[in-house]
Amino acid sequence: MESSISQIKKDYLDKISRAKTLKELDDIFLALFGKNGEITLLPKEFSKLTPSEKQKIGPLFNAVKTELESAIEKRREEIREVGYAELTGEGLDLQPVEVKPRKGHLHPITQFEKEIIDLFDKLGFQQFDAPHVDTDEYNFELLNIPAEHPARDLWDTLYIDSKNSGIQPGKLLLRTHTSNAQIRAMRDIKTPLRMMSLGRCFRYEAVDARHNHTFEQFEIVYVDKRVSMTNLQYLSETFLKAIFGPEIKTRLRPKYFPFVEPGAGVEGECVFCKGKGCRICGGVGWLELAGAGMIHPTVLQNGGINPSEYSGIAWGFGPERLIMLKYGIADLREFLSGDLKFLEKF
Ligand code: DAH
Repeated sequence: MESSISQIKKDYLDKISRAKTLKELDDIFLALFGKNGEITLLPKEFSKLTPSEKQKIGPLFNAVKTELESAIEKRREEIREVGYAELTGEGLDLQPVEVKPRKGHLHPITQFEKEIIDLFDKLGFQQFDAPHVDTDEYNFELLNIPAEHPARDLWDTLYIDSKNSGIQPGKLLLRTHTSNAQIRAMRDIKTPLRMMSLGRCFRYEAVDARHNHTFEQFEIVYVDKRVSMTNLQYLSETFLKAIFGPEIKTRLRPKYFPFVEPGAGVEGECVFCKGKGCRICGGVGWLELAGAGMIHPTVLQNGGINPSEYSGIAWGFGPERLIMLKYGIADLREFLSGDLKFLEKF
């Protein structure tokens, strides 16, 4: 027994020292310590030994086992180093390498929204948040869009499954616009009111280069005595000039939204063709950048404001749309793609 242990030791130390690859070492390891490995099987023979033999063989066996294990480990390290040297043509370079930390930055939408917040902050507008998961009441009904009204078709809405919540079907939804902040702001802040509300909105959209199920909006509401369409035109122009530069021309065109009367589409001269007409603006030379209008008296009333004393204006802009125009981005889906090649451009 003693001699066979010594023989195993001699043979394998020799094999280990001659191994040239990690694969060879793995095979040696298995031949020794695998399920039927020579070292693994040896203790089965111990039962045949006398107690005094056992006393001698036990420590010898343990010492050889440890020696072989560490010889394999040592050779592994040597092979790794040689492998590195062969690959790189140089010795193992243990000099510390300077790893430059990658600098991240804010997402382009966040950067842009910060700009908007700064601008409207200077004009005296305060920030106001509204929930993403909201009720039909705040998202539609109190904004003069009753259930079953055909105007609901303007928003393809994602409703929350009411099966387990005990909520009546169709009453809880993902907000389709930031206009859900309007009534809350009127009730909470009261008059005079200047508020901005930014954030994510959701719609059941077929996704393409210009539509997404998840997108950003920001809402502006201004209520005071004698607020008029003139204020709307002035603020739209101030805002769009701050974003696109002083040359941009803006105009208002009549447009229906149930919560404003009159309602308007805020349009900017197409930044791609400078009003000449191109593929992006559909040949008309103008691009719609926001929905807006004089707040409907019913909405003011729902917000606890007397419409014979106060009037108000409201807008809803799509920040992604504005960024696309500003930087000439063709596909809206880029914003949520998480693609670093896209994000690093900003
Ligand atoms: N909420 C509208 C939408 O998502 C946009 C909008 C239109 C907001 C007119 C307004 C407004 O505040 O007055 O399409």
